[in-house]
Formats: sequence, structure tokens, C-alpha cells
Amino acid sequence: MDGRNHSIVSQFVFLGLTNAWGMQLLLFVFSFLFYFASMMGNLVIVFTVTLDAHLHSPMYFLLANLSVIDMLFCSIIDPKIICDIFEKHKAISFCGCITQIFCSHAVGGTEMVLLIGMAFDRYVAICKPLHYLTIMSPRMCLYICVTSWIIGLIHSLVQLAFVVDLPFCGPNVLDSFYCDLPRLLRLSCTNTQELEFVVTVNSGLISVGSFVLLVISYIFILFTVWKHSSGGSSKALSTLSEHIIVVVLFFGPLMFFYTWPSPTSHLDKYLAIFDAFITPFLNPVIYTFRNQEMKVTMKRLCSHLMHYRKIL
Ligand SMILES: *[C@@H]1O[C@H](CO)[C@@H](O)[C@H](O)[C@H]1NC(C)=O
Repeated sequence: MDGRNHSIVSQFVFLGLTNAWGMQLLLFVFSFLFYFASMMGNLVIVFTVTLDAHLHSPMYFLLANLSVIDMLFCSIIDPKIICDIFEKHKAISFCGCITQIFCSHAVGGTEMVLLIGMAFDRYVAICKPLHYLTIMSPRMCLYICVTSWIIGLIHSLVQLAFVVDLPFCGPNVLDSFYCDLPRLLRLSCTNTQELEFVVTVNSGLISVGSFVLLVISYIFILFTVWKHSSGGSSKALSTLSEHIIVVVLFFGPLMFFYTWPSPTSHLDKYLAIFDAFITPFLNPVIYTFRNQEMKVTMKRLCSHLMHYRKIL
């Protein structure tokens, strides 16, 4: 490490979104509320699924896992953004920046693979309903979860392996409010064009690849349903529409972010807000307000809680 003197830059500085006080206040309120709501909503999902035996089915286990991932995802960058809003000098240490990149890519990659697992779960439920419980055994669920984490970690490690030794010899201002790879690469004092390509391919591959896979599987499922459409599949179909909404909202901004040729426009800064604050919040909204079973269970758990309070 010493010989390479790999970095004079010991911290990076974010430009943030705005310096106008009114806008900062608005951003603060907005981001704080969304962060708080995401954490609460996802916690409620995890508790509901864990506590209620009616929801002990593969679909809900995977959903609870998605909620855990969402909570991790927004906790990696959101608190730092919120604390920074009113700071004049928004700084992050070199290690902090690398950690942010590593964790957000690991968790983000995991979420993508888990979404594929959830699509597979819907495929089995809708297309092979009689074999659902044998195919989606507890072991299979665990397998899906573990695989998602392994792939997410590998994706992130590969990404980082290219970056960690880059020399940074002066410029340290990121026109952003969190550390992301495309912007970080630009600050390095070597030619990073090839690296940018590797990063785009790696992130692009996992996001576009997962998205295409998901779209194909959903089309396949819809086609199967349409071919033998019967009353019984309508419930399964309604859970499917929730998944499709989540997938489009999650991948839309990400794919734009990593495959758009010039990440210097302001649009991607705002899209990044979408992924950092709104997507983790939308999952619980979509899954709880649109899902009858979930709503009923929450009501039941609530009334149990009330009951216990009366006894105490
Ligand atoms: C995640 O999935 C595994 C495997 O099905 C399950 O055992 C676990 O309870 C899930 N996690 C949560 C928080 O529900």
C-alpha cells in the first residue's frame, strides 16, 4: 500500500442538491418522512409475517426478506443524506465512501436476485399450483435467499476490486449527495474509461439482465394464465400485479442510472432520490394496501395487541 501511495485524498465532499434554505428544509422534511415511513412499513411487514402463522408461506417469507433488504438499503445512504442536508461542508471519508458503494451494490444486487426468486415463486404458484408446496419447500426458500446474497456480494466485490486501488490525487468534489461509482471514477487521476466501461457492464448486466429475466417470466406467467383462464387464478394474478409494479419502480431509475451514457445530467441526481427514498417506501405500501390477506392479518394482530393491553 505504502509504495503505491494510493490516495492523497482522504475525504470526499458532496455538493448536495441545493443551498437554498427553503429547499433544504423541504428536502429534510421529505427525506426524513420517507425514511421513517419506509423503516416503519417494512418493520410492520417483517413482524406481521413472523408473528402470524397464517402468513407462513413461501411468498410471505420472501416478502419479509425483501423488507429486510429494503431496510438495509435505505439505511446505508439515507441517514447520512439527512444529516448532511443542512451542513455547509458535506464530507465523507475515503473509507466511508468505499463502504457506501460496497454495501449499496451488495444489497441492491441481492434485492434484484431476490425479486427474480419471487417471480419464480409466483410462477410456481400460478402455473404449477398443485406442486407449489413441494417445489417451494422451506429449503428452496432458504436456497433462494442465500443465493441472492451470494450473487449480490460477488457483484459488489467485483465492482470494488477495480476501484479500491485507484489513485486519487486532488479533485474530491462529488456532484451528488452520496457516493456512486460513475462519479467517483471521474475524480481519479488516471484514465478510467476502461474502468467506467467495466462498471457499466457489471452494473448494467445485473440490472438489465435481471429486468429482462423478470419481464420474460411475467410474460410467461400471464400467457399461462390467459391460456387456461379460470376463476381460481385471479387471486394469484392480483399478487402478480403487485410484483410487476415493484419491479418496474425498482428497475426503472436504476437502469437509467447505469446505462445512460453521461451521468452528469441533473436528472439522474433526482432519480437517485427516487431509489434511495421512494422505492423502499413503496414496497410496503404496495404489498400491504393492495393485499387483502396482509391487511386482514394486520388487523388481527392489532386487535390481539389491544387485547393484551387490556389484560395487562
Ligand atoms: C427469509 O427467508 C427464510 C427462508 O424462507 C425464512 O426462514 C426467514 O424467516 C425469512 N426472513 C424473514 C425476516 O422473514
